[in-house]
Amino acid sequence: MNIFAVLGNPVKHSKSPIIHQLFAKQTGILHNYKKICIPLNNFYKSFFHFFKNGGIGANITVPFKKKAYKLCDFVTKRAKYSGVVNTIKIINSKKILGDNTDGIGLLKDLQNLKFINSKSNILLIGAGGAAQGIIYPLINFGCNITIINRTYQNTKKIVKFFKNIKNINYLKLEDLFIFYNKFRYNLIINATSSSIKGNIPNIPSNIIGPDVFCYDLFYNSNNTPFLKWCIINGAKKVSDGIGMLIEQAAHSFYLWHGIMPNTKLIIKKYKKYD
Ligand code: ATR
Repeated sequence: MNIFAVLGNPVKHSKSPIIHQLFAKQTGILHNYKKICIPLNNFYKSFFHFFKNGGIGANITVPFKKKAYKLCDFVTKRAKYSGVVNTIKIINSKKILGDNTDGIGLLKDLQNLKFINSKSNILLIGAGGAAQGIIYPLINFGCNITIINRTYQNTKKIVKFFKNIKNINYLKLEDLFIFYNKFRYNLIINATSSSIKGNIPNIPSNIIGPDVFCYDLFYNSNNTPFLKWCIINGAKKVSDGIGMLIEQAAHSFYLWHGIMPNTKLIIKKYKKYD
């Protein structure tokens, strides 16, 4: 039987299997999708083991998105521009195609929420694979992005990757604390993995306000620690990444099966599971 899965570590919290189950029901496609926790030091072996044993498609999640990119035989244009993959499909029997549906998924959700327009000035927190995967579509949409990250060295690495693209700025975290009143952001996106362990990235609370949209790529049944902190500091419009998860999953499903599920219905339905 054809098998699909989300490969990552941790994956215990993942809602991807239930979302794909809903897609399968909606479209009438047989779609066996599970979650597989891959040992942190054994990605390469586990990745190929999955595809040698019936796996024909997978979502890749934290912290393997950059590693997976390197194992692909072919990548789509949007994966190439981001340098990370979150979706794999086996093509021509054995070849590995990598795609990135995170960026389009996030943009779609931000549009649904009316959190973004083509002139949005965005503060992006984080410089790992998750951040890297969403930058290109946001820039392409017309937005300005400023990247800050706990480790400045990693900020520089990600900026170097996008060196030929305009509208990307970066700041040292210390400078944001000192010069916070010089900057005005419409949208703040937390693309760090801090929420997984219940932590909050260290940013100045002064940049939050009632008219600043706050978004966390992470999701859980209540607000994430970051979003709770934003609300305490005056944010009125916040959202976790459940909508993005559903939108990116729909684009992965489309890559695998050629049918786009109705995400609006699923988002509405899914909320009832919480
Ligand atoms: P990966 O890059 O391994 O795929 P990721 O979730 O995309 O995983 O990236 C981890 C990001 O979360 C990094 O930006 C990391 O910051 P560092 O570069 O300083 O390591 C950030 N991060 C993780 N925990 C954090 C925390 N408690 N506070 C702030 N940033 C955190």
